Amino acid sequence: MCGIVGYVGPNSSVTVLLGGLSRLQYRGYDSAGIAVLGTDGVLETRKHAGKLQVLIDDVDALPLIDGQTGIGHTRWATHGGPTDANAHPHLGDDGKLALIHNGIIENFAPLKQELLDAGETFTSDTDSEVAAILVGRAFRESGDLTLAMRQVVARLEGAFTLLIVHQDRPGEVVGARRISPLVIGLGDGENFLGSDVAAFVEHTRRAVEIGDDQIVTIRPDSVEVTDFAGKAVETREYEIAWDASASEKGGWSSFMRKEISEEPDAVYNTLLGRVVDGAVAFPDLGGLTDEVLGSIDRIVIIACGTAAYAGMLGKYAIEAWARIPVEVTLSHEFRYSGPILNDRTLVISVSQSGETIDTLMAVKYAKVEGARGLSICNTQGSSIPRESDAVIYTHAGPEVAVASTKAFVAQITALYLFGLHLAAVRGSLSAAQLTRNVEELQAIPAKIAEVLVASEGIGQLAGWMADTRSVLFLGRHVGYPIALEGALKLKELAYIHAEGFAAGELKHGPIALIEPGQIVFVIVPSPRDPSSLHSKVVSNIQEIRARGARVIAIAEKGDAAVLPYADEVIPIPLAAPFFEPLLAVVPLHIFALELATAKGLDVDQPRNLAKSVTVE
Ligand code: AGP
Repeated sequence: MCGIVGYVGPNSSVTVLLGGLSRLQYRGYDSAGIAVLGTDGVLETRKHAGKLQVLIDDVDALPLIDGQTGIGHTRWATHGGPTDANAHPHLGDDGKLALIHNGIIENFAPLKQELLDAGETFTSDTDSEVAAILVGRAFRESGDLTLAMRQVVARLEGAFTLLIVHQDRPGEVVGARRISPLVIGLGDGENFLGSDVAAFVEHTRRAVEIGDDQIVTIRPDSVEVTDFAGKAVETREYEIAWDASASEKGGWSSFMRKEISEEPDAVYNTLLGRVVDGAVAFPDLGGLTDEVLGSIDRIVIIACGTAAYAGMLGKYAIEAWARIPVEVTLSHEFRYSGPILNDRTLVISVSQSGETIDTLMAVKYAKVEGARGLSICNTQGSSIPRESDAVIYTHAGPEVAVASTKAFVAQITALYLFGLHLAAVRGSLSAAQLTRNVEELQAIPAKIAEVLVASEGIGQLAGWMADTRSVLFLGRHVGYPIALEGALKLKELAYIHAEGFAAGELKHGPIALIEPGQIVFVIVPSPRDPSSLHSKVVSNIQEIRARGARVIAIAEKGDAAVLPYADEVIPIPLAAPFFEPLLAVVPLHIFALELATAKGLDVDQPRNLAKSVTVE
């Protein structure tokens, strides 16, 4: 979950590294450091616990010997607390080599003992320093940085991305990856490495994927990629779809507020090019041909956190439209549950980052078991799509805030598009039904924009609740995943107890939590829905009001049945049942943002969290 940057070229590596790290802070921000190889051949390292600004201030106060070769790291602590000593880079070869690491080296303890027995000393508690000393020793033997990396990674177990520089090898950065992310940026007389393209997008939009178990050596005028055995491998260059400004705040007070405002565009852009003449049209679903999709008899959706709640909505829609059984499993539970998989099973992974290690490992497991794989992902060139038969990219643009908002509505959109595509391929919906659902989906961007305008008073509501210590969320059917999402957002942003329940579960225990003043958000189904869900949920509201709860109802505009029983009603535009969640979630995203803001918390980088969970 760390951010890493590497640079070789004619420009100031300090400037490039610190600029790249500033765009990668969302990947981890409890310490940061850089190592720069000066033109006089001296390797200088600067690193600090705390946010990146501490490092920037230090470098400003005491300028580093600047040079044209360097590596940089912003950390989310795994082994060893966030201290100066544990910050990266770590040194080897008597301080002449610097290494940065993202991931976990699972066999670091025996390797560390081997080095201690050989007389090496350590200054940190980290697994990464073991790799630094190992590579330093290997380099001393061969004088070849790429070979030294190859010899060491062959001994490492676990997930890792490593970058190294050595003061005897100016103009050279060597990287290696296994599972953890790494991507190359191709410049003109300069080259870059990064944990994702945000590291260098301000300098170049030409990127190259690096596959698993591969080593890359960048120099100002060359890039060499091999496998761990040293054999050259094919690479694929692609153009980064967004520019540097898209990853800046653009005048907004926070990335999260900016990204919530982009939720209409995230849906619109995810639909773009995938509806032709009123029908869903996927230009390229790789190995998932209509014939293969026609043979699928079971779907498993795997994801974590907010992405899993999008997956739950995908379940409802795909089962209703394509009439295929769908189950949703948390990625980190999936492969340990002994799932029964074969080539008639389609495993759909949902991941904004495309790097969530739990989901990546589950995707790899499913692939080995013979299942078909589809990735719903927001990050081009990331690891999970590379392991899948096909990918449907959500086009939400870069999501920088740790809390996932616009990616969530884009994930639902992509899952719904796929569900309608499946229904068309399998003939499980009539042309009229398909058209009606596509039209509902196409109307969503404008309706979300309407909700954004109608939700401007939520900041005041949140202000009144700044001292609350507990908020509950109730939802039924497709409202239930939204209740879970609303609760998660409050936990991760406002650091308070929040819990989402299926409204029908209330009387089976949770209603005991209701006491006078307890705040409860209720996602109310449309009164136009022919099922009896609306009346049941209104009854739930009455039950909790009778026990003193303070109810905030998210209900369809004009729903008069709710008014007498709710303390506050947040209206949303009319939409068919499956599409209401895309509207109901927006006020909950805003509420969590406003409550965290009222509490003076950092909404973009909440404590203990990172944007992409790349350690299991
Ligand atoms: C969402 O607000 C959280 N930051 C978290 O639950 C996130 O959705 C989850 O870690 C999955 O991340 P991914 O979509 O990048 O796989």
